[in-house]
Amino acid sequence: MGKLEGKVALITGGAMGMGAADAALLASEGATVVVTDVDEKDGNAVAASIGGHYRHLDVTSEDNWREVVADVVATIGNIDILVNNAGVVAFTPVATTELAEWNRVIDINLTGVFLGIRSVVETMKAAGGGVIVNLSSTAGMMGYSNLSAYVASKWGVRGLTKAAALDLGRDNIRVVSVHPGGIRTPMTAGLEGNEMYASQPIPRIGEPDEVARLILYLVADATFSTGTEFIVDGGATVGQALNV
Ligand SMILES: NC(=O)c1ccc[n+]([C@@H]2O[C@H](COP(=O)([O-])OP(=O)(O)OC[C@H]3O[C@@H](n4cnc5c(N)ncnc54)[C@H](O)[C@@H]3O)[C@@H](O)[C@H]2O)c1
Repeated sequence: MGKLEGKVALITGGAMGMGAADAALLASEGATVVVTDVDEKDGNAVAASIGGHYRHLDVTSEDNWREVVADVVATIGNIDILVNNAGVVAFTPVATTELAEWNRVIDINLTGVFLGIRSVVETMKAAGGGVIVNLSSTAGMMGYSNLSAYVASKWGVRGLTKAAALDLGRDNIRVVSVHPGGIRTPMTAGLEGNEMYASQPIPRIGEPDEVARLILYLVADATFSTGTEFIVDGGATVGQALNV
């Protein structure tokens, strides 16, 4: 018997990368998984491959969230698990970041997480509780050059997670943030051999499944954890190695 039998999990940005890996692992543990994305083709393919469901969901749209959650509750059941995974990156220095680009990154990476949390509160209460996993990043633990909007969005996700955990704890809803380092996905295409990985204690890029297994632990077993950060980064944020 899987660890998530009888549970309904909704994953945003599930058409590829980490979201697709999360979808496969949670489904393999018995969850009924709703893969959501703006990429219909890949999203449907992932859902079909795991025996799950696909729904179109642009995380920046309040109306779309309302429609999808209502539809899932009516046709599949109350949502027990939400993985707020959808995200985009923009490699621009702060001095030349256009306002439109800033707003796009904040809308998807931070406002999308807020809308997701707010949209599932009632269905999770009806289910007797739930778990919300928000994808932040090592960019939510420290700064990076040429990534100002992304870093701001991921620090925002980290803070929002704590505020939401405080608001929702008495409803038996846990909210946690996950902070991956470099992971091999379409988002990091071309960065696999980047020199930044060489200085990590585990000197390589991570694999999506290594994040998915942490997320499985958080939703299935981490029953006394809420509002806190879970880092999966090959040690990238532990400190500076000294060559003395
Ligand atoms: N890959 C990394 O190294 C890394 C590291 C740390 C954190 N993260 C974070 O992990 C999450 C997943 O990253 P990934 O590398 O798998 O990304 P990815 O680019 O491979 O996949 C992201 C998915 O999000 C979807 N998406 C984009 N805009 C959307 C929107 N408005 N609504 C719904 N879906 C949308 C895309 O269609 C895509 O399927 C992101 O939040 C990302 O910021 C990634």
